[in-house]
Amino acid sequence: MALQDHPNAARATFAQSGAMPPRALDRDSFWEFADRAKEATEALAGQRMEALPLLSVEAMRRVCMQYRFFTIDYIKDLALLLAKLPFGGLRSLLGQILAEELGEGDPAKAHPEVYDRFLASIGVPAEELGRRLPRNGAILEALSDELAERSPAFGVGLRGMGGECLCQTYLSVMFEHLREHPYIRAHADGIEWEFWTIHTGEVDIVHGELTRQAIDDYIREEPAALPELALGYERSITAWNRFWQNIFEECAPRRGATA
Ligand SMILES: [Fe+2]
Repeated sequence: MALQDHPNAARATFAQSGAMPPRALDRDSFWEFADRAKEATEALAGQRMEALPLLSVEAMRRVCMQYRFFTIDYIKDLALLLAKLPFGGLRSLLGQILAEELGEGDPAKAHPEVYDRFLASIGVPAEELGRRLPRNGAILEALSDELAERSPAFGVGLRGMGGECLCQTYLSVMFEHLREHPYIRAHADGIEWEFWTIHTGEVDIVHGELTRQAIDDYIREEPAALPELALGYERSITAWNRFWQNIFEECAPRRGATA
């Protein structure tokens, strides 16, 4: 298991990065840290995703397909997190987001289903859909284990905040570059865009803002949760970046980076 995938990696990376020690955090410095982390993630996503339009059609499909495993496991982890949280605004909001992820009673509207319709519409064969990268399987399983074992505050940073705020940032950048791929441009009229409409538009921006407000309220009520929250969020960033790094290394090696 790589250092970044280890349950104690968050503590290690905090120390190595020279970031402020978690004990010194207050609400303002936590949000400054979160904003800086989000900006850095956005920049990294931009560097990584700018290769998307240059990929062969097959490599572009493989990259898109691998994301489905994140969205599937996010639902499971969100349910785990809900089980651990105290009653309150954050639990209520995340419960609403989970219901939306599951299609609010209509399984055809569950986000993994919606995403799979997008994949089918860009030509990903149904038999490819189960081929999760083992390295990314290990990352996702480690996140679920940590969520189960550690404090609710760590879980909020890991999945409540990381899944919603970070994911939206990455998906927006991905969508921006994906739309420029020659195959996507040529087939735009036949592509199922619903997943992207949900995740890169107003709905997800509002989700991000509501989540941030609910987490801020949670911190006000439980200031002692801050260090664990920050560690969980940093762990989430590390895992998320590694998840995408693995995808590009394995699905889009440089030799395949021509159209
Ligand atoms: Fe979603």
